[in-house]
Amino acid sequence: MRTPLVMGNWKLNGTKESVTALVKALVQPANDNSKVEVAVCAPAIFIGMVEELAKGSALKYGSEDVDVHTSGAYTGENSPAMIKEFGCKYAIVGHSERRAYHNETDAVVAAKFKAAQDAGLIPVLCIGESLEQFEAGKSNEVCETQLKAVIDACGIAAFNNAVIAYEPIWAIGTGKTATPEIAQDVHANIRKLLAKYDADVASKVQILYGGSCNAKTAYDLFKQPDIDGGLVGGASLKAPDFTTIIESATKTL
Ligand code: PGA
Repeated sequence: MRTPLVMGNWKLNGTKESVTALVKALVQPANDNSKVEVAVCAPAIFIGMVEELAKGSALKYGSEDVDVHTSGAYTGENSPAMIKEFGCKYAIVGHSERRAYHNETDAVVAAKFKAAQDAGLIPVLCIGESLEQFEAGKSNEVCETQLKAVIDACGIAAFNNAVIAYEPIWAIGTGKTATPEIAQDVHANIRKLLAKYDADVASKVQILYGGSCNAKTAYDLFKQPDIDGGLVGGASLKAPDFTTIIESATKTL
């Protein structure tokens, strides 16, 4: 039985004031829903604040990205060790917005995955197809390519200590949530691919759904056998909505 994981991805949002209010409001739901793992991934500049605010609670946190380098002349970047030092458990890698706006290739994503893991962080590997690819029936093919790039570079055993997030690009921020059937189908295929390498890894890895996962759609998605929770953008910025999503995960148990 896999533990559900509900993770917020704040993206480029927040102020000191809103972050304080949001984390304070999430501590209780995270503590109350103890059979579910709850985390928020914050812009790097807010991670220290989240560390203080979440201290002693069940609320975990992570970064939205990580650099491949450990130190040196890489202006603007945050190393995995820096992120780890501030108590992060997770680091998102390969989000479609990073792939699209920062030209992150599968090779770069695999290197980030490895760098995060080497520093003791759990990488949350995002994969997913564009609308065009979805309409062409290529969802599984695209996910397999993106996933294989990381398996080839890091080995299947690396997924003993990683999370996968299936995030169809056409569903991100559009309000067009994938139907539970569509998402389940892709999740099952992801697990099938992993099982070809190692059945035990495949059965244990958490696979999250992301893309307009919200207070209304979360429960039906999380009920699916191969969906182990969600990576939530917009709806994670509103404490009541994110709380409902956390509770939806508990309800599936
Ligand atoms: P969304 O974003 O929930 O706002 O669609 C999800 C994500 O990009 O992780």
